Order: sequence, then structure tokens, then C-alpha cells
Amino acid sequence: MAFAIVVGAQWGDEGKGKVVDYYAAQADIVVRFNGGANAGHTIVSGGKKFAFHHVPSGVLYPEKINIIGNGVVLEPKKFFEELSQLDAVGIKPNIRISPRVHLVMPYHMALDGAEEGKKGALAAGTTMRGIGPCYSDKAARFGIRVGELLQPALFKEKLHTMHTLKVKLLKEVYGIDFKQTEDEIYKQYTEYGKKLAPFVAETGEILADALAKKKKVLFEGAQATMLDIDHGMYPFGTSSNTSAGGACTGAGVGPTAIDEVVGVVKVYTSRVGTGPLPTELNDATGQAIRDKGGEYGTTTGRPRRIGWLDLPTLRYAARVNGLTGLAFTRLDTLSGVKTVQICTHYELDGKKLLTPPASYTDIARCKPIYKSFAGWEDIGADKWRACAKAGFKSLPKEAQVYLKYISDEVGVPIYVVGVGAARDDTIILKDVFSKKA
Ligand code: IMP
Repeated sequence: MAFAIVVGAQWGDEGKGKVVDYYAAQADIVVRFNGGANAGHTIVSGGKKFAFHHVPSGVLYPEKINIIGNGVVLEPKKFFEELSQLDAVGIKPNIRISPRVHLVMPYHMALDGAEEGKKGALAAGTTMRGIGPCYSDKAARFGIRVGELLQPALFKEKLHTMHTLKVKLLKEVYGIDFKQTEDEIYKQYTEYGKKLAPFVAETGEILADALAKKKKVLFEGAQATMLDIDHGMYPFGTSSNTSAGGACTGAGVGPTAIDEVVGVVKVYTSRVGTGPLPTELNDATGQAIRDKGGEYGTTTGRPRRIGWLDLPTLRYAARVNGLTGLAFTRLDTLSGVKTVQICTHYELDGKKLLTPPASYTDIARCKPIYKSFAGWEDIGADKWRACAKAGFKSLPKEAQVYLKYISDEVGVPIYVVGVGAARDDTIILKDVFSKKA
């Protein structure tokens, strides 16, 4: 099979980077289709640490094509910082950017903070990268696209309209003096335009050609299902379609092209940002998991909220994404906990709910009902790695029971189990690219 999507099945930070990195090694093309600099993942390669926000995970392989699809919003400054990191170690990645990608402008970043400040209890706790305001402009057909940056007269005209409007909006509605002048932004962004020009290409055509030639293409989701603008816990999510359908609209391929959809599942729950989290652990167990797992945000450094695994969310993610496989991560992090819990369903107004209700106010009232499982021992890094080599059956028995229960309940087979941070610490039960096309 040739076209595979990887998405987060929970609230983000499931460890997609590691799973994507594994598949990227086999793919011919790696595609980002949603989000922007709000995403953050760290890749360690050849002893060097890279902090990426926009660039697809295939960038460390010069022979692979890396596509930034039309569904992404690009913050040029951050993008070029990422390229500099690669340049410093002599890597010239093969990146193609759709001309349909929308640009995050400096006023979007100012508006992100201003809007959050006015939302009170409904603030999502954004990454402040201007994501919401940029996607708002896109939907309002006010946005500026990469392709337009390459047409200086058009760009100047659009910037003039938008800058005038946003300065007024920031001042009169939010009481903020936006300092950057139209001229400064014009100069800065036309410079970016010159540097972006060599990367711009009809990425949809590249993918159509790849489909015809049965190439291996990996669609790398940013954020996660419960942050999806349509299917997530509105309004406490992000502003793009993070679920599998977003790969089609955000890259310009039809749904019939997709062969596999892998949902990455951390074996417990974590999230950054606000909003109800039914299985949240505000106790010593939650803190212990946070510390053991180093659960602090890559983009913001914020401590992540921790909770038990939540099956209603996973059943929902399986449905919304059409998951064909599960990639579990962090089995080692959850080890050493004597008794672990899984939320099997919620109770709301005397009813049993197998998936989350649509409204966050109802989710906040849901009572999580748990099933207890015996925990598994922390066997130490060397033994976890040995398990990765020996396969699923070598895992502690209790961990096997836990994972199989989740897979059975969700009705999706296990493809991957992660037992440590490195690429080798991974058990592959089924490889999305090894099947015959
Ligand atoms: P925004 O995408 O910056 O607008 O943030 C909206 C919500 O999504 C906030 O709750 C963020 O914490 C969350 N969020 C955005 N990007 C990520 C991510 O990559 N991982 C986890 N949460 C994210």
C-alpha cells in the first residue's frame, strides 16, 4: 500500500514524531497537510537535536521529497530558522511548498494574544503562533497565500488592505498599538518571498504523479483528533482539520488515494491548553507520570495535563479518522505504576456514553467510569530495547493485556508499540508500506 496517513488519536503530543520518523525512513514523499508553527517536534539524528515546526519529517533524508501542503499555514521566519538548523549540519532538504499555503503575518500573532485575552474561560491556551487569526482570514477569504507573495504588486495591494484593517482592529477593539508598519512588513515579506520562490511547486501534481507510480507517501498529521476544528472539543482545539480527512483537503488528493490511516495513541492521556479533560489526574500519580515522561510542551514549555487512557475518545478517533491501525507510544513511561486505569465509558445524566458528546459543557459533566488493570514493571532501558527486538510477545504480560484490551474495544488492530524514545525502541507488528500495492 502506498498512501498512508498518521494522525494523533488524542489531544496531541502522542509521540507522533517517533512513529512518523519510522515511516518516513521508508517513504518516498512526506507531506504536512495542516497546522503551522504551533506544531513542534524534536528529532535526534546523528547525535544532533533538531526542533522542527513546519518542515515534514523526511527533511533529514535529502533524497526524499517533503511537501508543505495547501492546508498548512506558514510562518516564514520560523521556517527559515528550521532550514538554518539543517544548513548548519550540511543538509539541503528537498522541500516543495504549495502556492496555496497561507502566510502567517505579524498581525496574526498580535491578534492571537488579543483574542485569547478577550475569550475569558473559553480561551484555548493557544501557542500564540497566530494560527487562529490566520485560518480565520483564510476562511473569510482575506488571507495572503504564498503564491501571492511571489507577485509583488498583488502582495502590496493585499497587504495594504489587511494592514490598515488589522491596525484599526487591534487599536479600536483590543486597545493594542501594533507597531510594525506596512512598509516594514512589505520589505520583510518580499525578502521571504524571494527565498521561498525556489521551493514553490504544484504539490498536488507531484502527489498525483506519485499515486500513478505507486510511490510511498506519508501524510504526517500535526496536532490531533480532539483538537480538530470540526471534530475536536470545540472551542478548545486548534483551527485546522487535524483528522484524516484533512490530509485529502490539505494536500489535494482524493480520499480514494488513501490506503492506511494510523492513529497514534499514547498509553495514557496528556494535553496542553484548556478545556475539560474527563480522566485528568490532579494527583501524585499524574505528577509522577509527567516527570517520568518529561511531559512539558515542545513549542511552549508548558507542563502537560495528564490523565488515564480514555476509551470514549479513542472510539471516536477511530470513527472520525477511519483508523486502520493503532500505534501505541510510551509503554515504558507508564511502567512502574501498580494499578493502571482505563476509562471504558462516561456517564451523563444517567446514560452510558461510549463516545464523547458534542458539547464541551456536557463533556465537563461526564463522569469517567474506570476498569482497573495490573500495572507492569519498569524493566529498564536495555530490556525495553530487547523487547523491541524480540516482539510483542516479549512485553510484560500485563502490558500485553492492557494493549489488547484497548485494541479490541476500539476495534482497530495494533500496528506499532513504542517502548522508548529512540527509533529502535519500537515494535512493528504491521508495516503500512510493506504490503503489496
Ligand atoms: P493554536 O493551535 O496555537 O491556536 O492552539 C489551540 C489549542 O491547540 C491550544 O489548546 C494548544 O495548546 C493546542 N495545540 C496546538 N498545537 C498543538 C500541538 O502540536 N500539540 C498539542 N497541542 C497543541
